[in-house]
Amino acid sequence: MRTIDLRSDTVTLPTPRMREAIYRAELGDDVYGEDPTVNRLEEMVAERLGKEAGLLVVSGTMGNLVSLLSHAQRGDEVIMGHLAHTYLYEAGGISVLGGVHVRTVPNLPNGMLDPKEVELAIRDPNNVHFPRSRVVCLENTHNRCGGAVLSPQQMATVREVAKRHGLAVHLDGARIFNAAVALGIDVREIAAQADSVQLCFSKGLSAPVGSAIVGSADFIREARRNRKVVGGSMRQAGIIAAAAIVALEEMVDRLAEDHENARILAQGIKEIRGLDVDLGTVQSNIVIFSLTAEGVPITDVVKAFYAEGLKINNIDAGRFRAVTHYGIEREDISAALAIMSRVMQQFV
Ligand SMILES: Cc1ncc(COP(=O)(O)O)c(C=O)c1O
Repeated sequence: MRTIDLRSDTVTLPTPRMREAIYRAELGDDVYGEDPTVNRLEEMVAERLGKEAGLLVVSGTMGNLVSLLSHAQRGDEVIMGHLAHTYLYEAGGISVLGGVHVRTVPNLPNGMLDPKEVELAIRDPNNVHFPRSRVVCLENTHNRCGGAVLSPQQMATVREVAKRHGLAVHLDGARIFNAAVALGIDVREIAAQADSVQLCFSKGLSAPVGSAIVGSADFIREARRNRKVVGGSMRQAGIIAAAAIVALEEMVDRLAEDHENARILAQGIKEIRGLDVDLGTVQSNIVIFSLTAEGVPITDVVKAFYAEGLKINNIDAGRFRAVTHYGIEREDISAALAIMSRVMQQFV
């Protein structure tokens, strides 16, 4: 039985071209700055996002960690949404390792932060009671808000407040290319609204490992040091960079297919008794949908999906998350809907 795995776009496997590029990659010791493939990727990603410099890191988590440690010192504060990936799912790294405090403001359902709430959260720098506000984080697309896409215009409203108070803006752009493709704009327009950006190669872009951060040359110099601190400097990392280069060159435009598949999936879910979805929230490759069948433990439904060959996880007691990605075709979406429909008949 073929399994349809919609748990995450991180389950994507490298493409044949990536495997070939990994095999043929020119390598050197990147801690000496001598890996030509890493150097090429870092230049390429900086140029693509319109920033001065780039840095390869192991993961999205490391990219956010190293970026925030480079903006903020011990006792400083970072402002982010209460549903930010960095706040919920990165093991509290900036507090654990950096002594950096987090202040949350409510995420709006569209993934945004209300600029007025951000402004209220910024501390008076002259009051000794307070940590010092240093950075505001945005996330685009926004994972826990169902892959919500933030436009550059929306981001600019938060950036304006941050800049007026001398704060940096960091973007968790794990899926920034999904945002750019969904908006039909150059990814630079999004990156321009942040001082630093973290982006993942190992999600919808299908590379096996790796993320990059981009920003000013000074920021990346500091980040390179902080990457060393957390043990993230690698030697012949060109084997990772080689696949990331293919990801940037060949895998961006096809994200549109994932978005279309997500929409078709959501429209189908809307028709299934016992499930519901707000179609307005489906803007990229993530579909967050609800269990409306009463008195049914969501974990029983997840188990029943798995037993039929459909992997979808729940994110809380009432909601599931499905993610479309490379390797999931239109027929898989039809098959997934057929399974959901059949399974839900047991529960309603
Ligand atoms: C929005 C967002 N940021 C950061 C990350 C962390 O990436 P990684 O799993 O590579 O550490 C993820 C992973 O799912 C994510 O969805």
